[in-house]
Amino acid sequence: MSDSVPAASVPPGTVTAVGDYAVGNHDESYFAVSKRCRHLGADLSGGSISPDGCLVCPWHRAEYDVASGRMTRGPQGIFAKVPGLGTLFMTLTRVVPLRRRRVTSDGTSLTLE
Ligand code: FES
Repeated sequence: MSDSVPAASVPPGTVTAVGDYAVGNHDESYFAVSKRCRHLGADLSGGSISPDGCLVCPWHRAEYDVASGRMTRGPQGIFAKVPGLGTLFMTLTRVVPLRRRRVTSDGTSLTLE
């Protein structure tokens, strides 16, 4: 199954929803990961991209490596004060990372393979 979206709808530094995936553009490099945060299920397509290219959850700012689908920083705010919580979720995503799909571009549209 492939999903497509106009490339113009994902300008650099943004994330948008394409079906069940959060599609982002970090310095003209596109990624697609499943869009439910492993913490409490926030829609990651409403997230942002950190300067180093990680996907940041819009609710509690956990960060994901979009290449591996693994959480690289646990939930922040009040959740960061819970001992071991961040480690627990980071470990969980080693076993159950976000799903990833390859994104191809023909210049005008993006296709999830
Ligand atoms: S729902 Fe994503 S960090 Fe909490």
